[in-house]
Amino acid sequence: MRTLLNNLLKSAILDSFGDIAKNTDPALQMANQPELADYQANFAMKLAKILNKKPQDIANTLVDKLSANPVFKSIYVSGPGFLNIQLDHSFLSQKLEGLAKDDRLGVLQDPHPYNVVVDYANANVAKEMHVGHIRSIVIGDAIVRILGFLGHTVIRQSHLGDWGTQFGMLIEYLLETGNAENLYSVTDLDALYKQSKQRFDQDLNFAERARARVVALQRGDEKTLGIWKYLVKESLQYFQKIYDTLGVLLVQEDARGESFYNSMLADLIHELEQKGLVIENEGAKVMNLPDFEIPFIVQKKDGGYLYATTDLAAAKFRTETLGASRIIYLTDTRQQQHFAMLFSALSQTGWIKSHVRLEHVYFGTILGPDNKPFKTRSGEVIRLISLLEEAQGRALDLARAKNPNLSEAQLNHVAKIIGIGALKYADLHTDKIKDYVFDWDKLLSFEGNTAPYLQNAYVRIRSIFRKGNLYLAQIDLIKNSKILINHEVEHNLAIKILEFPNLIYSVADSLSLHRLCEYLYTLAATYHRFYEHCPILSVGDKNIQNSRLLISEITARVLKLGLDLLGIETLEQM
Ligand code: ARG
Repeated sequence: MRTLLNNLLKSAILDSFGDIAKNTDPALQMANQPELADYQANFAMKLAKILNKKPQDIANTLVDKLSANPVFKSIYVSGPGFLNIQLDHSFLSQKLEGLAKDDRLGVLQDPHPYNVVVDYANANVAKEMHVGHIRSIVIGDAIVRILGFLGHTVIRQSHLGDWGTQFGMLIEYLLETGNAENLYSVTDLDALYKQSKQRFDQDLNFAERARARVVALQRGDEKTLGIWKYLVKESLQYFQKIYDTLGVLLVQEDARGESFYNSMLADLIHELEQKGLVIENEGAKVMNLPDFEIPFIVQKKDGGYLYATTDLAAAKFRTETLGASRIIYLTDTRQQQHFAMLFSALSQTGWIKSHVRLEHVYFGTILGPDNKPFKTRSGEVIRLISLLEEAQGRALDLARAKNPNLSEAQLNHVAKIIGIGALKYADLHTDKIKDYVFDWDKLLSFEGNTAPYLQNAYVRIRSIFRKGNLYLAQIDLIKNSKILINHEVEHNLAIKILEFPNLIYSVADSLSLHRLCEYLYTLAATYHRFYEHCPILSVGDKNIQNSRLLISEITARVLKLGLDLLGIETLEQM
């Protein structure tokens, strides 16, 4: 609908003012006061300067041109030259009726689909996943779903930390402690990892052997490589358990760790040298970047490669081999400088064609009630798996209190969907750049901008159909009903619903997922007002009843699809 309005305005502007106004953006936005107008177009001020005319006159010319168009109920000028638009009821009805028959609720597939790599869920092998890892996984999963829904080929990549000196340390320690012979019985890799680090810091002799072990690993020494492979496999299985509990799309094949690029690095440095992009700096090889004071180090003095080198190789692989036209990296804010430098370095190499979009999506920290990074009471980092368990445990208590008649299996099912949904939504609904304070009571509340509120709103709409004893066959009949818009709240709800496609397009572009959350929250609130003012089952007129049922049905579907795209499940009953 937004596209249609935009086009109408554009061609009216062109018609009225000719070629000079050809590139004028109508600057269409939702109106601030929905009781006065649905939309506002604010192009007149800008165009006035170009044409040297009064903005009011310009806006009025458009009113003359468009007021006869049946799309508009009213179109008028206010203030210094704002064009206010109210849409016609029957136009909205017609659009909603179309939506009712469309599985995709008006969201079109992108006419120019592309390959996009989403680089997320970047944990480190043999280390525990902690609460800090959840943001990348949850935000990444929503991005993957939205871009996939628009028809793009999404290539999920976890750039796991699975290579480097720390593995020399850990493998050497496993050998020394005899654990290497019984690897299958090792249950707490994370603890062994920490111990090996301690040993490394305290014992020079051990440190020496650990370094030799890295060399053996890089050389492909069979025994060392065997242990390393085992560590990777174990970690992947453990991570998968977490992904499955979270209900995200990641599978083990999506893991392409740093080790994958190792064999490409020597050639890569060679190529950079041939292009004249690398200079020696105190024995290291570096790239000088125009906008940065510090150099981008690509090879250390001792010949070792760095995080940056691997990222250059990964970007090259992703565009050249995976055919990516867009690469989205998700990490916390601390890596901002790294990615800014990486993108700058890549722009020198010529590996990335000009149409390729490189984006670093960075996010803030999860804080505890004391406004410091979220830790356990005793000050330790919180394991991600414990967080997921606690969410489900708390949701189970809530579910039991709400509906004691459910069976244990049903309660667990509800608890999982509510608990995990609440956790994800807490992460998604704040602007990702910001830190947020973790608060169990708030995120699990059935009131406010939370997943349980939205899940509950969905269930409530579904229950109208159950109360009315409407069976599937009847719901199907309702789908062909006429939509009748008589009440102001019906009008507002219709506008809100019809904004959904445009919102999805813009979120896919900006990756601002909190805007989708905000949308769903206001949609649910608008529906609530509709429900209060427009009786459904008690209304006498069958045509009005069917129309309101259909509006409810569409609202429910938008809520469900919107939550789906965020990776949040809904229940039909709870
Ligand atoms: N494993 C890294 C870390 O823990 C994050 C990787 C992000 N992705 C990338 N291509 N650098 O910090």
